[in-house]
Amino acid sequence: MHVSTGGALIQLWLYPSHLLCGPKGHTVCPRRDCERDAMRKIALLNQKGGVGKTTTAVNLGACIAERGRTVLLVDIDPQANLTTHLGLDVKRGQPSVYTLIRGEHSREEVLRDTAMDSLKVIPADIDLAGLEVELSTQSCGRELHLARALRGLEEEFDYVFVDCPPSLGLLTLNAMCAVEEIFIPLQTEFFALHGLGKLLSTVRLVQQGLNPTLEATGIVACMFDARTSLAGEVLEDIRGHFGGMVFQTLVRKNVRLAEAPSFGLPVILYDEECNGAEDYRALAGEVLAMAGEERQDQPAAQEIPPHLSLAKAG
Ligand SMILES: Nc1ncnc2c1ncn2[C@@H]1O[C@H](COP(=O)(O)OP(=O)(O)OP(=O)(O)O)[C@@H](O)[C@H]1O
Ligand SMILES: [Mg+2]
Repeated sequence: MHVSTGGALIQLWLYPSHLLCGPKGHTVCPRRDCERDAMRKIALLNQKGGVGKTTTAVNLGACIAERGRTVLLVDIDPQANLTTHLGLDVKRGQPSVYTLIRGEHSREEVLRDTAMDSLKVIPADIDLAGLEVELSTQSCGRELHLARALRGLEEEFDYVFVDCPPSLGLLTLNAMCAVEEIFIPLQTEFFALHGLGKLLSTVRLVQQGLNPTLEATGIVACMFDARTSLAGEVLEDIRGHFGGMVFQTLVRKNVRLAEAPSFGLPVILYDEECNGAEDYRALAGEVLAMAGEERQDQPAAQEIPPHLSLAKAG
């Protein structure tokens, strides 16, 4: 195993899955089973591209905001898809997560409003791509810039979601050092499990070295297509390996989720009755229930259909 937190990439070669996560359920998160925390900081992370990280950050965040919590979304991806999804853009030199990290703008200056009062955004733009190069020349502390930039937000927000790029570079490392929890969106497809092992071992290594409070606490099955037997098989495999880490809610494939970004809206404001809205509301219920904030409701509605239940013998 080789871990280089100093280089642009973290390389991992050994990832015994039994070491990576215990059979933790979602009803109570061990770190949150006493008083309700003032804030939960969660990164949406998967080095695979196009698995639903941004869609989950926006819509889970919006559904939690809908339930009366204050939510901050942080876009740490130079693609800026989360920023665009919410109908925002950043013109050259305007406040963004990049200028925040560089100390050019204050937190108050970079916070942007959305269509929901209790949902705010720190936007990104393509300039963020340059930050990775700038940071790579620093000798120490380069993984802590985002954590420092966000420090002090505890009093203002109940939930912070950080939308990561599809890589394990320095931007993602900054996200892992700025949060306490990782949610992993994935697509139930053939390669899902393989990437998951690598990702979880990365989280574990960061936890051992750079951020002892970090923990992977949730796996979200996105774009679930109940019509294919492969999706059902992969889901059963993932649940078999990772048990209680996997949210019961399956986010089904739903074209409304793909359309909502072109209207600059979370899906609950675009079509509040579609499957996508229903699924992300159910997921929000589970996420709140992890913190003991709300009774978990309706996950059983999304069991794998019987004809897809293809558990292998033994
Ligand atoms: N449940 C869904 N049903 C249909 N389309 C979806 C669903 N979830 C996401 N999509 C679409 O799939 C594409 C990829 O989703 P998304 O951008 O959330 O993935 P990502 O992991 O953030 O990608 P990247 O790695 O590039 O940042 C987007 O066009 C999005 O609108
Ligand atoms: Mg994305």
